Amino acid sequence: MVSLFVLYHSQEYGNTKAMAEAVAEGAQAAGAKVTLINTNEKRLDIEEFRDFDAVAFGSPDYYSYIAGGLKMFVDDLYIVRKSNRQGLEDKPYGLFYSHGGGGRVREPFEKLFRIMRIGSKIGKTIESNGSPNSKVLEECRVLGQQLVEKMKNFG
Ligand SMILES: Cc1cc2nc3c(=O)[nH]c(=O)nc-3n(C[C@H](O)[C@H](O)[C@H](O)COP(=O)(O)O)c2cc1C
Repeated sequence: MVSLFVLYHSQEYGNTKAMAEAVAEGAQAAGAKVTLINTNEKRLDIEEFRDFDAVAFGSPDYYSYIAGGLKMFVDDLYIVRKSNRQGLEDKPYGLFYSHGGGGRVREPFEKLFRIMRIGSKIGKTIESNGSPNSKVLEECRVLGQQLVEKMKNFG
């Protein structure tokens, strides 16, 4: 069974959380086992990241950058990978974010994850201005599904 990890930060209204849950829904409907973690609630132990086949990352726009909790994951990943890269790269990944009307986080968000060489990026980066509407939620479900299909094709 394909395993999808959805790592996101959500704190203010739950906007990014709603998007994360829609990604998870799409992946589950495509037959995946999904694990969701909100970096506002838990700091991920990078060892746990090794086991997932594919991943979706979500963040609110905080001052035109990603939230600190998700940035902490990226920093931890860089440091842990220096000693053992096994299972920490070559994962298809997707990105989603919410914002309050500015939304300038897109470029640094995409750049950071490109630099981190997580794996191949799947789909376009999904954006929500405030609370995600039904169109955005559907885009999130499709992303979840695409990530799972990509892994099925690998197998
Ligand atoms: C500390 C902080 C900084 C923010 N900075 C920005 C910003 O620079 N640009 C923007 O469009 N929205 C900004 N926002 C608004 C949030 O990105 C937006 O409300 C988001 O949907 C919150 O996501 P959440 O409900 O999942 O926490 C900021 C919010 C907070 C709390």
